[in-house]
Amino acid sequence: MSNTRTAEARSCLAVVLAAGESTRMKSSISKVLHPVAGRAMIAHVMEALADAGIEAAALVVGRDADAVVAAAQRADLPVSTHLQTQRLGTGHAVLAARAAIAKGYDDVLVVFGDTPLITAGPLKAARERLAAGDDVVVIGFHTDRPTGYGRLIIENDALLAIREEKDASEAERAITYCNGGLMAMNGRRALDFLDAIGNANAKGEYYLTDAVEVARAAGARTIAIEAPETELMGCNTRAELAVIEAAWQARRRHALMISGVSMIAPETVFLSHDTQLAQDVLVEPNVVFGPGVTVERDAVIHAFSHLEGAHVSAGATVGPYARLRPGAHLGEHAKVGNFCEIKKAEIGAGAKVNHLTYIGDAFVGADTNIGAGTVTCNYDGVNKHITRIGAKAFIGSNSSLVAPVTIGDGALVASGSVITDDVPDDAAAFGRARQTIKPGRAKLLRERYLAEKAAKSPKG
Ligand code: UD1
Ligand code: CA
Repeated sequence: MSNTRTAEARSCLAVVLAAGESTRMKSSISKVLHPVAGRAMIAHVMEALADAGIEAAALVVGRDADAVVAAAQRADLPVSTHLQTQRLGTGHAVLAARAAIAKGYDDVLVVFGDTPLITAGPLKAARERLAAGDDVVVIGFHTDRPTGYGRLIIENDALLAIREEKDASEAERAITYCNGGLMAMNGRRALDFLDAIGNANAKGEYYLTDAVEVARAAGARTIAIEAPETELMGCNTRAELAVIEAAWQARRRHALMISGVSMIAPETVFLSHDTQLAQDVLVEPNVVFGPGVTVERDAVIHAFSHLEGAHVSAGATVGPYARLRPGAHLGEHAKVGNFCEIKKAEIGAGAKVNHLTYIGDAFVGADTNIGAGTVTCNYDGVNKHITRIGAKAFIGSNSSLVAPVTIGDGALVASGSVITDDVPDDAAAFGRARQTIKPGRAKLLRERYLAEKAAKSPKG
């Protein structure tokens, strides 16, 4: 047999099961579309497959097929789609991909779309065992919370069977070594095993897990290998989804800290699947990173900031209490302070936007100072317009910049201005009513009001 080649030299198909009804999720969408770290569960699974160097995936879909296929697509992994028309169990689901399996791969991996924490490591380890001559390799994990998982029945290092919770005896339920749902099979024998699975069990379903007993009956070698629970938790309910999210977050925070990012209270920082934080970035407590954020070295993200689709250049500071929305781009050493919102705007190197400000659809030049309470009035109710502010300009506090408008390099806008016309370089613009002084008028008014109040009052 060709089975003696090293794991890397062997061809491998991954069958990804994502056709379940998601009944326990109580959701209007398939559970594999629910996000973990801001990205569909199924996309996490596909990434692990690509990382493991698998050359083709067969995706088994049922409800929400189009959306599931779209979420599973990747440039680096060809995916064929197979429809499971009836939901008759995981064993039945794998057979929906019969045409792909029949192509004759050395290895066939079955992975579940609802196991998003999986990484390449255990998948590669399972393939090593196939290369070493095992026929069915189940990836298991030890847990304090085995409820709902299939239990692994081991004897003398061989895996005898997997017993589903509903079919397990009291003694079997006490087993804490569980089926993570990932199974690697000798690709030449996989269809023989799968076709022999029956449905004589508590749920009347074709259980993939029965492939173990079927294979043993055919004289095949069946084993379990162990992987950490944090890679194998399955998601059946929203409560489990939250546990999985927490585990994903803990893992990624740890990886970032190991790579040189400082976090004061890491458990309060929330990351997205694609958050990029460079070495020597400091993240203070209670910061949320939505998708698409890159932060370069030495930048500081102060407490209670929310960033999404934003780029923060080296040495820049954000917050506390700042919001960077998609398209926010902060230059080196720029500062965006408390209660500021930046959307689709470039803040030049060294520019300061320190307090209570909205900058949207704008360009702010290097070293410009934006005073407290400045607002770019970018929306006329129908269209968005652009505000351009040059370098080394000064925008006085509480100014409204009515776009489209351009303010030149070195220009000054007096505080409280409403700017509707362009301001040339080095010009000063006063867009507010002139101040007038009425000597003694305040005292007069005060006395009049007091007298009026006394006249109305009943006490005398
Ligand atoms: C399954 C395993 C259990 C294991 C657990 C790990 C079986 C019989 N049981 O149980 O041993 O401990 O996973 O998480 O395999 N699916 C289909 N079509 C179907 C049924 C399911 O595509 O007809 C898909 C689901 O979308 C899901 C995956 O298969 O992604 C697993 O199905 P699920 O019903 O969640 O299995 P569990 O009860 O969790
Ligand atoms: Ca499951």
